Amino acid sequence: MPLICVCSPKGGVGKTTVAANLSYALARSGIKVLAIDFDVQNALRLHFGVPLSDGRGYVAKSMENPDWSQYVLTTGGNIFVLPYGDSTEEQRVAFEDRLANDEHFLARGLSTLLNYPGLVVVADFPPGPGPALKAIASIADLNLVTMLADTASLSLLPQVENQRMIGGPLNHRAGHYFLINQADTRRHISRDVTSFMEERLGERLLGVVHRDESVVEAHAAQKSIFEFSPASAAAFDIEIISKKVASILGVKVGDGEVHASPKLSGY
Ligand SMILES: Nc1ncnc2c1ncn2[C@@H]1O[C@H](COP(=O)(O)OP(=O)(O)O)[C@@H](O)[C@H]1O
Ligand SMILES: [Mg+2]
Repeated sequence: MPLICVCSPKGGVGKTTVAANLSYALARSGIKVLAIDFDVQNALRLHFGVPLSDGRGYVAKSMENPDWSQYVLTTGGNIFVLPYGDSTEEQRVAFEDRLANDEHFLARGLSTLLNYPGLVVVADFPPGPGPALKAIASIADLNLVTMLADTASLSLLPQVENQRMIGGPLNHRAGHYFLINQADTRRHISRDVTSFMEERLGERLLGVVHRDESVVEAHAAQKSIFEFSPASAAAFDIEIISKKVASILGVKVGDGEVHASPKLSGY
């Protein structure tokens, strides 16, 4: 089933926020979504109502159990979450080592999940290149590269465009697309960089998400932007991007049923 990877050459640009809200956007149109975290920060789960004190996840168990599906947390809605979880330094190093040296490790870990009928998988990555982003290239369907509308992001654009991020294509299917996050129309530089990227990237730029306080407040309230502030600019922007992603991947959008905020049940 479609595997979408949210990545970026730079940290703090909003990858986790985008991954979470894209998952919500797809889920509210009736699609079942699995959100997977590949970042040791283990922050993705916090967007789905998993308490800070809940350290469950797949990484610590990934050496002893080749199938990671049993570490999925189910929510009350259409969203499933596979948190990175708490891990020791040894566990993290062993996980990354295995990702780098065993080409089947990741595909095996996700194989049950990727074969689940109708499930769309959204994976969140740490910034820059890394063993997980490299390992997933062979099975990823689409990469969504998150950029800011600033000069630092602009200077890193050639890295992505010239396949310098992981030394090859980010995936072998739909390719990579871009998203500009935290665009601020009141700032000159933001407007200039946005229009430059629009021109340079053309169809590869799936959309622009405005800087919007509702995004931060929704996260603090552990809600999706759609539930917290459905009329906000960011909700509108992410909705458009999710429709484009679904259309590129040929994902059938379901009944449009909006589900309640997640209630977690353990694995
Ligand atoms: N569109 C947005 N508007 C306002 N704040 C945002 C937006 N997107 C992300 N943020 C904020 O930016 C910070 C970094 O986001 P995060 O998703 O953690 O980035 P990353 O995963 O790339 O490190 C967070 O505080 C988040 O709430
Ligand atoms: Mg993150």
